[in-house]
Amino acid sequence: MRFLLVLFMVSGAFAQAPPFKPYATLADIMAGISFPNSNAIFDVTKTAPKTEAEWIVIQTDAAVLAEVGNLILTRGRLKENGQPVPNTQDFRKHVQALVDAAKGAHKAALAKDPEAVFVACEPLYQACFTCHNAYRFCPTCQEATPP
Ligand code: HEC
Repeated sequence: MRFLLVLFMVSGAFAQAPPFKPYATLADIMAGISFPNSNAIFDVTKTAPKTEAEWIVIQTDAAVLAEVGNLILTRGRLKENGQPVPNTQDFRKHVQALVDAAKGAHKAALAKDPEAVFVACEPLYQACFTCHNAYRFCPTCQEATPP
């Protein structure tokens, strides 16, 4: 009986969510990942990578940028002002646009094709711009309620 109880408690512990909680603010993620990683991609249009190592930098920057959607939408993530990051359908649409654009840039970087990176930069820039227009600089829509 005691054995069964212990077993029950152990399985209960495993069923819990992992003890990882969001720590960085949305602003940290933007300034620490979105900004530098997208800049590295945009810079390809000015100076194309020459070596394998230079392409690998762009490839990993784009792959990590494509991961940023998961970080942005992690439950409990706060903005710099302490308000929760919005998690509305509209906000998620903007996040998806960023992820899709980053994946496009990643594909182009894997192909080591500067022209394709150039093409991928347009939706990437648009993703930053449209979400910022709606959520970063809009005082009335910033405090959207999380689910
Ligand atoms: C889904 C919406 C969304 C997308 C897409 C997005 N951002 Fe942001 N960004 C925000 C919000 C909201 C803030 C304000 C963060 C806060 O208040 O904590 C912000 C803030 C920032 C900041 C300021 C950070 C600071 O230290 O104050 C930078 C820089 C930034 N974003 C860069 C980018 C770049 C570059 C991209 C595109 C590659 C991008 N963002 C895409 C929503 C977005």
